[in-house]
Amino acid sequence: MIRIEEISAEDTYPIRKNILRKNMSLSHVMHGDLDPETLHLGVFAEEELVCIGSFMKASFEGLSGSQYQLRGMAAREESQGKGFGKLLLERAELILSGKGIDIIWCNARITAVEFYEKLGYQVMGKQFEVPQVGAHFKMFKVLK
Ligand SMILES: CC(C)(COP(=O)(O)OP(=O)(O)OC[C@H]1O[C@@H](n2cnc3c(N)ncnc32)[C@H](O)[C@@H]1OP(=O)(O)O)[C@@H](O)C(=O)NCCC(=O)NCCS
Repeated sequence: MIRIEEISAEDTYPIRKNILRKNMSLSHVMHGDLDPETLHLGVFAEEELVCIGSFMKASFEGLSGSQYQLRGMAAREESQGKGFGKLLLERAELILSGKGIDIIWCNARITAVEFYEKLGYQVMGKQFEVPQVGAHFKMFKVLK
């Protein structure tokens, strides 16, 4: 059985460490993790947490309207490509549009740009580097 639930910041840490911070000295703890407005979502498959994403109230100057930033988006290695990331983003869009949020944006790793594009996100601006992590693009989606 698959279910999507709100989880705590701490719940996200094992997958963040294993997938997003592997072989890096960057912290898996993110600024805004404990803000009351932050939404952490998890996809559970057979009771196991397999995919995570965190949505933080943050505005990017190049965009107008009420905004949330998606951070820490990751699926466990053996759970990638099974539709969990798509499920999580679709649920987040429902929740955030229900709260009157207009836009979700993120700093997308170049290797994940196509994933976000498939979910309706658009690239804006030029490619940029994040030390240790690599090439990124800013991407955004206007919620209906
Ligand atoms: C990127 C990631 C979060 C996507 O989650 P996922 O559960 O694997 O993705 P889904 O299975 O829901 O994929 C949805 C669609 O995007 C495609 N897709 C997923 N990851 C992709 C990628 N890295 N590149 C290109 N397409 C991708 C899938 O093939 C699927 O396409 P379809 O609808 O045509 O079948 C996950 O693969 C992951 O954790 N990757 C490593 C960490 C990472 O890069 N995180 C993002 C940081 S910005």
